[in-house]
Amino acid sequence: MSHQQNQSSTDTLAPQSVIAVIGAGTMGEGIAQVAATAGHPVLLFDVMAGAASLALQRMATGLQRQIDRGRMRAEQRDALLARIQVAESLSQLAPAQLVIEAVVERLEVKQQLFGDLESICSANVILASNTSSISLTAIGSALQRPQRLVGMHFFNPAPVMKLVEVISGLETDSGVADSVYRLAESWGKQAVHTQSTPGFIVNRVARPFYAEALRVLQEGGSDIASIDALIKGAGGFRMGPFELMDLIGHDINYAVTCSVFNAYYQDPRFKPSLIQQDLVNAGHLGRKSERGFYDYRPGAVNPPATLAGPQQAPDSVRVEGDLGPAATLLERMQAAGISVLGEKGEGEDEGESALIRVGSAVLQLCNGELSSARAVSSGEPNLVQFDLALDYAQATMIALAPADQADAGAIADAVGLFQAAGFEVCLIDDIPGMVLMRTLCMLANEGFDAVNQRVCSEAAVDIAMQGGVNYPRGPLSWARSLGLRRCLGVLDQLAGIYGEERYRASPLLRRQALAEAVAEVAKVANNKQGALR
Ligand code: NAI
Repeated sequence: MSHQQNQSSTDTLAPQSVIAVIGAGTMGEGIAQVAATAGHPVLLFDVMAGAASLALQRMATGLQRQIDRGRMRAEQRDALLARIQVAESLSQLAPAQLVIEAVVERLEVKQQLFGDLESICSANVILASNTSSISLTAIGSALQRPQRLVGMHFFNPAPVMKLVEVISGLETDSGVADSVYRLAESWGKQAVHTQSTPGFIVNRVARPFYAEALRVLQEGGSDIASIDALIKGAGGFRMGPFELMDLIGHDINYAVTCSVFNAYYQDPRFKPSLIQQDLVNAGHLGRKSERGFYDYRPGAVNPPATLAGPQQAPDSVRVEGDLGPAATLLERMQAAGISVLGEKGEGEDEGESALIRVGSAVLQLCNGELSSARAVSSGEPNLVQFDLALDYAQATMIALAPADQADAGAIADAVGLFQAAGFEVCLIDDIPGMVLMRTLCMLANEGFDAVNQRVCSEAAVDIAMQGGVNYPRGPLSWARSLGLRRCLGVLDQLAGIYGEERYRASPLLRRQALAEAVAEVAKVANNKQGALR
């Protein structure tokens, strides 16, 4: 069902092709600006009288801000606006070679509109929908030429966000998808191909970013401000999940989750959260209603992240084994004047059993197990797990989860070490997968599953998540650098501890983790042979 299998045509959309944009709301206005910036003559139509002219006025105001900041010259603005013409009726869109629709998100409205366009425009017009959730196959089913219909999913604000998802329905001609892809690239966008499946790429792969934070909160693993601070300070994300949900609006975010959940026949992986449902029921929709996870009413004071109080810095630590992805921590500790003793047995293990001893505490990188369980199996009651960081050399914050058995002195030793190395420390409850580790593993799992189901390529997942929602790194390349076996191990732990389908690993992640192990064995064997020669 990949787009390559459909018959291919040789469409090319030249820089001077006429582009029609239908719907002059938030998205239509932005898309019209993008097309006009690229030099196209643009026809803008909205069913509501005066809406297109109003959109042009808003655009002019926005462009004036660019001029005021020295990012644009007045002549450029004038030329750009002169390229956009308001159409008074659908029939005036006849000369368009590409029509991009951004009207209300309703199947029958979009079907009617494209049906009308088929009799107004030429037979080789490309019809594109900016739908964020409706199946392209379903829209196409009402058309005479569904092969000419493609999804062109921009992100808000369209002039700023880089990503365009190019979506193929069952009937979409691969040549049509390719020409829209090339056009988007020529506009300076990052395009990705995807099949028309629920949530496409971004709205599917991003679900765990919200879902895991909501789950940690529901279990009392940590609080709202601390989870947001950790996702930013340790994970390098620009916004925490709760801040982002408040910005998007809980009505929208919850509706997208429910729509993806239902579209996948209630797959537990996408199960919505009762906490978020409650906010929607209460009308606490986020910033737009001044209340959500945070309170935005004038004078409101929101509780800050819960940070551990200052503890004494240690003189030295003892390291056992290769810390793998967390190895740069040691350099950071040394730079803080802490002696790092012990053997760093590079390649001896994958960091699973590697540990740092500081005072009476034993620190290990989170592997998805409960710290309390690891304390029992290792015979180290003072075990404290530390969470994942995007980059241990740069992270400003870290979460620590002490085992229930750990004594207060050991916890203070662990906190003091990370504080001395320049981290803000947040002590969280002993929950499996901690905060960032479970988030990243679940994002990567969803990405691998999309690839497994031939929705898109591995590269497309990473491009989409960076370009569409500003992730600091593509989740699949991040998981590969963390180690796919480690990622799989975390998911298997979560699946076992919760006994829930939600955490089942994608078969592709499992296969790729095996491939990683095989490659590792071959590398070690090669190195040994090299050493013997
Ligand atoms: P909006 O409500 O701001 O604008 C929609 C516009 O379409 C309105 O001006 C309305 O008068 C006009 N309209 C409605 N029916 C029409 C018709 N039959 N013919 C011509 N014009 C018509 O909506 P928004 O947010 O711009 O969304 C538009 C589409 O883009 C939806 O399909 C939405 O799912 C999708 N989308 C929205 C994003 C967002 O962040 N707002 C992001 C990506 C996609």
